[in-house]
Amino acid sequence: MNLIVNKYKIELSKILNCNPQNLFLYWKGRVALYAALKAIGIKENDEIILPAFTCVVVPNAILYLKAKPVYVEIDPENYNTNFENIEKAITKSTKVIIIQNTFGLSSQVDRIVVLARQNNLVTIEDCTHGFGGFYNGKPNGSYCDFAFYSTQWNKPFSTGLGGILQINNEKYYQKIKQLEKEKIKPSLFEKFILKSLILFNKLFINERTHWMLVKFYRLLSNYNLIIGSNQGSELNSLSMPNDYCKDISSVQVNEGLKSLKKFHLINANRKRNAREYSKFLNSKNKKFVHEKLFDNHLFLKYPVLTNDRKKFLELAEKEKIILGDWFLSPLHPIKGNLKIWGFNCTNFPIATSIASKIVNLPTDINDNSKVLRFLSNHLDLIE
Ligand SMILES: Cc1ncc(COP(=O)(O)O)c(C=O)c1O
Repeated sequence: MNLIVNKYKIELSKILNCNPQNLFLYWKGRVALYAALKAIGIKENDEIILPAFTCVVVPNAILYLKAKPVYVEIDPENYNTNFENIEKAITKSTKVIIIQNTFGLSSQVDRIVVLARQNNLVTIEDCTHGFGGFYNGKPNGSYCDFAFYSTQWNKPFSTGLGGILQINNEKYYQKIKQLEKEKIKPSLFEKFILKSLILFNKLFINERTHWMLVKFYRLLSNYNLIIGSNQGSELNSLSMPNDYCKDISSVQVNEGLKSLKKFHLINANRKRNAREYSKFLNSKNKKFVHEKLFDNHLFLKYPVLTNDRKKFLELAEKEKIILGDWFLSPLHPIKGNLKIWGFNCTNFPIATSIASKIVNLPTDINDNSKVLRFLSNHLDLIE
């Protein structure tokens, strides 16, 4: 295992432009975030600033340490937090700022990092959507003390499930090394199931089967009947799953090495498709993401706001268009009450409104003509 792990780290470091020894691998991205928070020494009542438009597993990692997530409103232009809102949220108890590359976009990372240093705060870049993208000429993940990445099903490259932590501040290296000893090894059964799911995904998920199989997979994983992206307890409580701090497996490392070979090709598609969606939406006077915002970024998904998401998704399913449904709620994928995560929707009108309208267009496809035709036929449903 050590040999292929080292090879995988070397391949990752070529893209991330970092020292392979500063990369650590986990079963999921959220475990990498949790490890970073532990290494920083986060404890009860410490405050962690994060976007009010994220995946629920991010506040979960904070709450498992009894710390307090402090959500910050997002900017409707780029779906990320901005400098001013973060500055207002800093208090004496703030310890960390999490900066997210939502849909692959990043913004004001350098300015926010300077602000954090001035206030003696640690920075973590949530690059789960942004692996391989650039911000101001440097790869995403280069600016903060830590960066973490996800290689889950829909991410820039996939190993089924998977997480990577990058340390840029050597001060935390020994602590992360120490935490390595606490990682639980995936069982043979888990490896077998994951390998089977990866194979099943390659063989059977296509335009025709996507919607049905994704719904079925999510249902099974919410009831813990399959190895899923989320376990039931992560979606309805603040209790940390028993086997949360899990190590990466050989299945994921081998899959990662294979996936990385196609990575540059897929990224070229992502940029081209995003540019074409922007051009199309702009020409129809619809909300689009300005090219200046993603010139160098990796556009994992292309966000579109609809005025009737239910209908838009139903039509997409009928016409076999694979759309993403992130982030259906400010704390994706929780649809109900967000109070247990300390989130009050009335305080975040922009994030809440966007979450009620958003769908994501695919960017990793070779031919986007079918998607453009679909948009063209349903312009009345797009904002
Ligand atoms: C913004 C964001 N952060 C963190 C994560 C967690 O990644 P993982 O599923 O690998 O734990 C996700 C998952 O999709 C995400 O969207």
